[in-house]
Amino acid sequence: MADSPNCDLKSLSPLQLFERVTEQGEKVRALKAGKAPKDEIDAAVRMLLSLKLSYKTTTGQDYQAGLPPTDLALINNGTTKEEDDDFVDPWTVQTSNAKGVDYDKLIVRFGSAKIDTDLINRIERAIGQKPHRFLRRGIFFSHRDMDQILHAYENKKSFYLYTGRGPSSQAMHVGHLIPFIFTKWLQEVFDVPLVIQLTDDEKYLWKDLTTEKAYEYAKENAKDIIACGFDVNKTFIFSDLDYLGSSMGFYKNIVKVQKHVTFNQVKGIFGFTDSDCIGKISFPAIQAAPSFSSSFPQIFNGKEDLQCLIPCAIDQDPYFRMTRDVAPRIGYPKPALLHSVFFPALQGAQTKMSASDPNSSIFLTDTPKQIKTKINKHAFSGGRDTIEEHRKYGGNCDVDVSFMYLTFFLEDDDRLEQLKQAYTSGELLTGELKKVLIETLQPMIAAHQERRKQVTDEVVKQFMTPRKLAFEF
Ligand code: TRP
Repeated sequence: MADSPNCDLKSLSPLQLFERVTEQGEKVRALKAGKAPKDEIDAAVRMLLSLKLSYKTTTGQDYQAGLPPTDLALINNGTTKEEDDDFVDPWTVQTSNAKGVDYDKLIVRFGSAKIDTDLINRIERAIGQKPHRFLRRGIFFSHRDMDQILHAYENKKSFYLYTGRGPSSQAMHVGHLIPFIFTKWLQEVFDVPLVIQLTDDEKYLWKDLTTEKAYEYAKENAKDIIACGFDVNKTFIFSDLDYLGSSMGFYKNIVKVQKHVTFNQVKGIFGFTDSDCIGKISFPAIQAAPSFSSSFPQIFNGKEDLQCLIPCAIDQDPYFRMTRDVAPRIGYPKPALLHSVFFPALQGAQTKMSASDPNSSIFLTDTPKQIKTKINKHAFSGGRDTIEEHRKYGGNCDVDVSFMYLTFFLEDDDRLEQLKQAYTSGELLTGELKKVLIETLQPMIAAHQERRKQVTDEVVKQFMTPRKLAFEF
């Protein structure tokens, strides 16, 4: 049992993991004391290291002998079944709570830091502008080392942005735009280079797709990304299938990462099993490598120590926990991160929007009429069953998907607050709230479609050509 530590590590609580590490440490000491054969000791030490890594990945803290993870243990033992159900990894987001995933708990579990008022104020001072509504409203809610990025920026040192998308189909929905809308804002206010990875290789490995189709989706999705308003002189978009084979800088970093992460470690972090294809097992190195500036010699002039900031949804964090663990061992700075919450499905915040269920999403190709019908028909409501009850008891914004969407897309803080109060008091009915959302989304999506029309194949090619950007390094 102790010989296969990673097969079920994901299901262990921090305390159980702590006990496994302690046990394994004792085993190593006993083997050494008993002068056991070297290969036996080595195997036990390797397992100890991998257990320690899993412990760190789960709790965000280094294992310290004799110091069990007390606060985490308390959280895990003190919750009800319902609250315990949150499951988040790069492929699955599930909770039984209608308010959505408990993000504060996720911060503790992942070992990241909360984006608090102090940090938001510091960002505001650094850029001299009002912070984006995604920051003001806790949509980007967690970070790693954002203070370092601000410190660099305040001292006139540059950094760069990296984000990405897995092009699994042609159909992008509004939820997919969240990281890009925010990244566009970051690029504008900080005026830094941006690289966008399209993981067509990942989608080929995970989905039932040909490489040709995956590459085609990458180029189609690039159009929607470009339509968010990125500056061609400051942005490089690349398909893995295409760029990997042409860039020695990128591939060198991939093999560096591959050399420093063991199968045991990726099993622990991503839950891979012995029957997963080796493409999946080595893929995390490909998502890690763009975090290092030397992967883009044409942009950074071979500079290796430029720090990277990655805006992404929190489910991508496992990739970057691994990246941050490897970085110092291969002589690079750790990337900093900004994490967003998930964009809820129309049916409710128990899961994120899915491109494969047309009724769970508002697509970027939807007509005004489709938007209206979908919201009226499918958006989960926190309103009461009858008008009388609603007037008397009021609606519940915490579970109301229309209200949640408005927090993402309605820019006016005062208006949002008024809507919240009116809905909660019962003055505003569900149909009326839905109408506000419909009238917010229809012009927003129509404008996106208009901008996307301007993005020709030629424009995509410009963004996707490896080249120097408008920055000197
Ligand atoms: N794996 C991501 C997805 O499936 C795509 C991705 C690659 C990404 N690199 C990234 C996302 C960096 C955020 C940041 O969507």
